[in-house]
Amino acid sequence: MIKGGVPLHGEVTISGSKNAVLPIMAATLLTAEPCVIRRVPNLSDVKFMAEILKSLGAQVKLDGDTLQVRAEKIKGVGDYELIRKMRGSVCIMGPLLGRLKKATVSLPGGCIIGARPINLHLKGFEALGAKITVEAGYVRAQAKRLVGSDVFLGGRAGSTVLGTANVMMAAALAEGVTIIESAACEPEVVDVANFLNSMGAKIIGAGSPTITVTGVKELHGAEHEVIPDRIEAATYALAAAATNGKVTLLGARPDHMHAVLDKMRDAGVKVERRGTALTVSRNGRLKPVDITTLPYSGFPTDAQAQMMVLMAVTPGISIITERIFESRFMHVSELARLGADIEIEGPSAIVKGGRPLSGAPVMASDLRASAALVIAGLTAKGATQVNRVYHLDRGYENIDGKLRQLGARIERVEET
Ligand code: EPU
Repeated sequence: MIKGGVPLHGEVTISGSKNAVLPIMAATLLTAEPCVIRRVPNLSDVKFMAEILKSLGAQVKLDGDTLQVRAEKIKGVGDYELIRKMRGSVCIMGPLLGRLKKATVSLPGGCIIGARPINLHLKGFEALGAKITVEAGYVRAQAKRLVGSDVFLGGRAGSTVLGTANVMMAAALAEGVTIIESAACEPEVVDVANFLNSMGAKIIGAGSPTITVTGVKELHGAEHEVIPDRIEAATYALAAAATNGKVTLLGARPDHMHAVLDKMRDAGVKVERRGTALTVSRNGRLKPVDITTLPYSGFPTDAQAQMMVLMAVTPGISIITERIFESRFMHVSELARLGADIEIEGPSAIVKGGRPLSGAPVMASDLRASAALVIAGLTAKGATQVNRVYHLDRGYENIDGKLRQLGARIERVEET
């Protein structure tokens, strides 16, 4: 329940990255030795991934934001129902294949933000010598030996983030050299590569479109601190701007946020950077800007919905084009309930901004759409009820607590 109209003010600390920690947790399966991961965000997706690791035989201990995993003896078959529920869990496939030379997981189900196939992941495993079969809803990769090779991971929407992580993890224990071309350049891929290197892997080029992995016989235990979540940071930055507030993000990585910060500046938002602290405030009138989502270092699809809310409260017309996922506009019809004027034309949303928003009951459909609805509720006059907030808990640590700390009137209430 949100009572809107209060500008956000104060400081908020950014948590560890969801999309980095999930494949990093999966990477712990590559060694029998203990691993320690720090700055682990308290998210339902993380708890879910911990359950998946346990179901594979790993010992997992989560203590505050520190996670210990020891995958001494593991099996190569993931629990059907557990894996099916979370798309991110597909990244256990690369580590299982690397370590055991076999991996069986349930096919990730259809997803609300688009089809989300895994053909590129499988193409990568095949290039390393794995045979892929699909049976009874399970996909199985198996190899006598994994042998390094050249793999092209470009797809219709650029590369694949988890696919790049998956192939990198399998190739870490393959024989010889693997060259991944058209690799995803996202900071989360770099974080996974850094963790793998601290385990003894030989990976160079992560963060560029060409990644070279020289296989090693064995990986050892390691400690790692997860990078700050650039999408969580972008969400609070956009919430500060949309509510006409002033918020300092602590512990962020502004160097991972260029595309979002650049567009915010173009829109007339003031963004000041001091080391890892980033202060966001309004700088007079807002201006509409056009946005196209792209692979990194372009504007992230994961911040598209939140940016749309800022444009909805900005007088003028802006066009937001989604190029990564085909149906990632679920928030549009819900924003309309609050009074936003947005039309969808193919892959673009035409936002006629500046109409005052007023509170209403709305339904969260996926993680980032939910974040957008919360920001919209914070800017709207009156009360907004966001239903199905479990979507938010998948990817935002303590979002209601953090927003309250910034002065928001937001309460979590049980659905009646
Ligand atoms: N694609 C294929 N074939 C594949 C894999 C992907 O065609 O084998 C297509 C997808 O359909 C999509 C595009 O390639 O059109 C990019 O998908 P990608 O594989 O990069 O997405 P992902 O790795 O499954 C991660 C994040 C998403 C984020 C995307 C894009 C995790 C757990 N998830 O997904 O995060 O939107 O990269 O940056 O890392 C979120 O956090 O809200 C979220 C959805």
